[in-house]
Amino acid sequence: MVPSIKTSEAYLLLRYHLGWVDQQGREMETPISQGKALRPTLCLFACDALANDYSRALPAAAALELIHNFSLIHDDIQDQDIERRHQPTVWHVWGMPKALSAGNALQCAGDMALLDVGSKDVAAETVLRVSSILTESYLEMIQGQCMDLDFESRTDIKANEYLHMIACKTGALIRCGLEIGALLATEDAATVQAFAKFGSHLGQAFQIRDDYLGIWGDEATLGKATGNDIRRRKKSYPVVFALEKASGHAMDELLRIYAQEELEEDDVERVLAVLDEVGSQEHSQRLTEAAAAQALEALKPVSLPEWAQTEAEELVDFLSRREY
Ligand code: IPE
Ligand code: IPE
Ligand code: MG
Ligand code: MG
Repeated sequence: MVPSIKTSEAYLLLRYHLGWVDQQGREMETPISQGKALRPTLCLFACDALANDYSRALPAAAALELIHNFSLIHDDIQDQDIERRHQPTVWHVWGMPKALSAGNALQCAGDMALLDVGSKDVAAETVLRVSSILTESYLEMIQGQCMDLDFESRTDIKANEYLHMIACKTGALIRCGLEIGALLATEDAATVQAFAKFGSHLGQAFQIRDDYLGIWGDEATLGKATGNDIRRRKKSYPVVFALEKASGHAMDELLRIYAQEELEEDDVERVLAVLDEVGSQEHSQRLTEAAAAQALEALKPVSLPEWAQTEAEELVDFLSRREY
């Protein structure tokens, strides 16, 4: 008899990545490795704010978190990151081939979780619509990942191209969470659209802050090493800004450093110094805050209960100043 996948090693990798168990399969005592659950929270928030009931959105919220985690397992392979959420990454513990399968299995788990939307008294037509929004969004996320990898070997990335890349790799799933949550609560297309737009701006603020933390964050709070984005030649926003703003010797240095396939520690130090010279840190944070303000602006046409308006403002504030 074929053993159930639930008891097989494959599930151990998934449970480990989700922060439920340690490498030996023993339950974790603290939730430190479980992530922020941002996308499901947004999905439940939208549904609750519009219909005063989050339960209809629970299966979709679970699906989103599973798909997000699939993207993280693969992302750590792609970025060669050995630490996430305060613990070694799946590929670093079990190797790349098994980590790829673990990511694929989480994708399947996400797809299956989504089908449960139908058990919540949701019309079959809406289940299909929700399923197609989720699948299109994670396809967009994968396209964004491809652009992110392609940008590593390029130095001609302008802010607009960067913004398009992050709208795909990060914005798509965040927008999707809000759009689906709203769709499960209301048939009003303009309202659903406003939540989707809120999500797009929020996604932008979120990723630019992520780029900032990847360079200037505190490693112990963040749960992973900083500096790897630079080491991997990632065109995160601070670097894109520096490539647009630097001139003379600083620009020559950036181009020389980024023409190499491998960066040494003194290259990383030099890039950090140029980022400092051109004011990348302050500028990145300003852009995060501008995107956060646009996010709140997008919600303005929707009349929300007071608690939901306050929650939205607090959430936007947390996301633009988060340290983890
Ligand atoms: C990390 O997302 C990947 C990005 C899109 C930046 P989160 O920061 O939401 O990851 P967790 O789930 O909270 O760890
Ligand atoms: C992650 O982007 C985006 C996806 C996983 C789709 P990053 O590579 O910038 O995120 P972190 O910093 O590793 O979480
Ligand atoms: Mg990445
Ligand atoms: Mg990464």
